[in-house]
Amino acid sequence: MNLKDVRKKYLEYFEKQGHKIVPSASLLPENDPTTLFTGSGMQPMVPYLLGQPHPLGKRIADSQKCFRSQDIDEVGDNRHTTFFEMLGNWSLGDYFKKEHIKWMFEFLTKEIGLDPKRLYVTVFRGNEVFGIPRDTESVELWKKVFAESGIDSLDVDFSERDGMQNGRIFYCSEEKNWWSRSGVSEKMPIGEPGGPDSEMFWDFGVELKLHENSQYKNEQCHVNCDCGRFLEIGNNVFMEYLKTEKGFETLPNKNIDFGGGLERITAAQNNTPDIFLIDAFASTRKKLEELSNRSYDSISSDAKAFRVIMDHIRAAVFLIADGITPSNKDQGYFARRLIRRAVRFGQKIGIQETFCSQVGNEVIETYTEHYLNLEKQSKTILEKLDDEEKKFLKTLSKGEREFDKIFSEHGKISGQDAFLLYATYGFPVELTEEMAQEKGQEIDKQIFSQEFSKHQELSRAGSTEKFSGGLADHSIETVKLHTATHMLNQALRMVLGDHVFQRGSNITHQRLRFDFSHSDRLTDEQIKKVESIVNENIQKNLPVHFEILDLEEAKQKGSIGVFDDKYAQLGGKIKVFFIGESFSKEVCGGPHVENTGELGHFSILKEESVGAGVRRIKASLT
Ligand code: SER
Repeated sequence: MNLKDVRKKYLEYFEKQGHKIVPSASLLPENDPTTLFTGSGMQPMVPYLLGQPHPLGKRIADSQKCFRSQDIDEVGDNRHTTFFEMLGNWSLGDYFKKEHIKWMFEFLTKEIGLDPKRLYVTVFRGNEVFGIPRDTESVELWKKVFAESGIDSLDVDFSERDGMQNGRIFYCSEEKNWWSRSGVSEKMPIGEPGGPDSEMFWDFGVELKLHENSQYKNEQCHVNCDCGRFLEIGNNVFMEYLKTEKGFETLPNKNIDFGGGLERITAAQNNTPDIFLIDAFASTRKKLEELSNRSYDSISSDAKAFRVIMDHIRAAVFLIADGITPSNKDQGYFARRLIRRAVRFGQKIGIQETFCSQVGNEVIETYTEHYLNLEKQSKTILEKLDDEEKKFLKTLSKGEREFDKIFSEHGKISGQDAFLLYATYGFPVELTEEMAQEKGQEIDKQIFSQEFSKHQELSRAGSTEKFSGGLADHSIETVKLHTATHMLNQALRMVLGDHVFQRGSNITHQRLRFDFSHSDRLTDEQIKKVESIVNENIQKNLPVHFEILDLEEAKQKGSIGVFDDKYAQLGGKIKVFFIGESFSKEVCGGPHVENTGELGHFSILKEESVGAGVRRIKASLT
């Protein structure tokens, strides 16, 4: 089977089990300032996992594009990629472990045809501190499905030292078998959903480990080992907890959040432990073989360079298609880093010409059938790849000149110099190192790393500031302020006129900030009037609800808001929130409170200008 077959089988199978299939969301999250990229299938589902009803029902499935910037340096082995597709299915307070485990097993073994003897699973061993029990329920369910395939499965406590212990089901700690967007339970912020999970692994066989080049050949093997024998192909999260100030409470619904690597399941199906050998990489691999005049071989020393380029250019193509331009800032920084890293690795395998757009073109051709926007944007994508590659080549020659200058002045290159070359010219430290070595010198990597971490902390602080648009989290205080923002928007229109439109919004759990079109300073009287309209309507205990409307219908009903707000779009329709029968109607993805009575007292803290024709109000609820 190729990637396309597996994707299709998955979506068809879950559709048959009553799921509505939704298209992949963008790689750039909407209304979620906590993260730069969509890194898992569940991210766009968070409001629904927290209890908001999904307009399409309680069973949803998709294949979601994901990008994990934190994995850039992992790429090079046989299974890590920064970009991948995650097959997902969700039960929003509908079915739970019993049905899900049965379906998952059936999908993998019957639809995809994986041999159940080569499947292994892990489950959560429990956490006494938080009162979360050992997941014996899942163990019984797994045992049942394995037994139906004639396999007697033993459950044992996971142990690196003791290895497989003839087990098929392993109880693991929170480090491995607890899932939330922020990792283990203690790292989760208040208001974040999470839960125990059960991961599934495919066994490629022991031969791999015994390969003479394997650094693991004398070690005990276990499912979480990195030797390449086992590949994690999917994760079933039993998302039933919410982190609160008191510890953990159960969510309003018991949810299922499944995420499976499409490429990895395809690799298991093809029985190739090297995911870069599946069909989705075939044409980029061939292109690179032509360009470098070398052949791809999973265990040769060139394999890493091939893999880095195949992964990075594929990721860059999808990022650019979703609106990113390589730059020094924010998401653009990652697109730049991917392309530049690919160029360097291209040099390592002897590619002599500019190549990124040539490889990018193969990516577009491979994926265009499923991702129609790639074809439409192919010109822009290829131009941006080419442009960035050329910029980097210039950088490299500037960096080399600077290197020579420093060297001839000081007779050496210090750790600080290496950092300066990196920060100013984007000159990679590995190159500085290589060039220093050619001159018989070592650079002080420790100093370089210190400088680098200082710089990273600064840029992290910068990006937190920058990504503070929209809602900072989904805590109840933030959600209340979000509803108050709609009320403020309406009150401003009533007091100042219909020229008032939202120009920006930023909400934390402490205050709202609302930018809107209006040229003059608000008088004290106008401010008081706006406040009292909001407070009067809060006191009326108005119900808040949403409707899914056709675009025209929404406009006819006098809804305001950003009509191309992607977050509010649902298969050609649009989500509109109503406060009361007609006090406020605004296009929005949510979340909101159910009744304005929950809001308390609304006060405007500050009113100021933020540029020509735009005013800003900061306000809070007490
Ligand atoms: N959220 C889980 C993951 O990303 C499963 O979808 O692994």
